[in-house]
Amino acid sequence: MTNAPIPPASGFNLLRLDAAAMPDALDDLAGILHACVNDGAAVSFILPFGFEDASAFWRDSILPQVASGATILLAARDNADGRLVGTIQLGIDTPANQPHRADLKKLLVHPRARRRGIARALITQLENVARACGRSMITLDTRTGDVAEPLYRAMGYEVAGIIPDYSLDVASTRLDSTTVLFKRLNVK
Ligand SMILES: CC(C)(COP(=O)(O)OP(=O)(O)OC[C@H]1O[C@@H](n2cnc3c(N)ncnc32)[C@H](O)[C@@H]1OP(=O)(O)O)[C@@H](O)C(=O)NCCC(=O)NCCS
Repeated sequence: MTNAPIPPASGFNLLRLDAAAMPDALDDLAGILHACVNDGAAVSFILPFGFEDASAFWRDSILPQVASGATILLAARDNADGRLVGTIQLGIDTPANQPHRADLKKLLVHPRARRRGIARALITQLENVARACGRSMITLDTRTGDVAEPLYRAMGYEVAGIIPDYSLDVASTRLDSTTVLFKRLNVK
């Protein structure tokens, strides 16, 4: 499945981006990550975080993972202007003893495109892709108390536990907790 349109939703479409499609998508992907981090998102980075830092993440870290098949990259495209406004990753490079598991990573929706159901649609499509890969267990972690946490719980993710002092706040020396969640998927 390469750049194949995935069922349209309200005002946006979901795509799977392969390595060949990523160079053309880099500016939009970098714009999403740059905006989210500078808006305070806890997604591995700290300020200052420039557009080039965001570009480098997609180009140097994620593109090789997508090319090798270790990561599956999905994105949401806004029908109004054709720009990518959301993204999510499925990490399937799990160890030999975890062939049934995958990681949900880097769910990001541009601040200008929020509360339109894009994150919910991306998670649902990610789960479809995971099932198609034979993965029956999704795991993730998210900063404790962020808006993503109740979203995941509403979508059937269960809390495994909370790890205190897990990561630095994006803009200060405060250490934040992370909540580890999982969901079992039915795989036929
Ligand atoms: C978390 C995030 C992905 C949500 O994206 P989104 O596209 O706005 O989410 P949706 O529109 O699909 O929202 C689905 C539901 O989540 C909840 N929700 C989402 N954003 C919320 C907010 N700011 N406040 C309260 N509830 C919220 C609501 O229940 C919402 O349903 P509703 O709009 O029908 O009430 C987005 O805010 C984001 O990119 N945040 C920064 C990055 C981040 O923290 N990612 C998670 C890392 S694990």
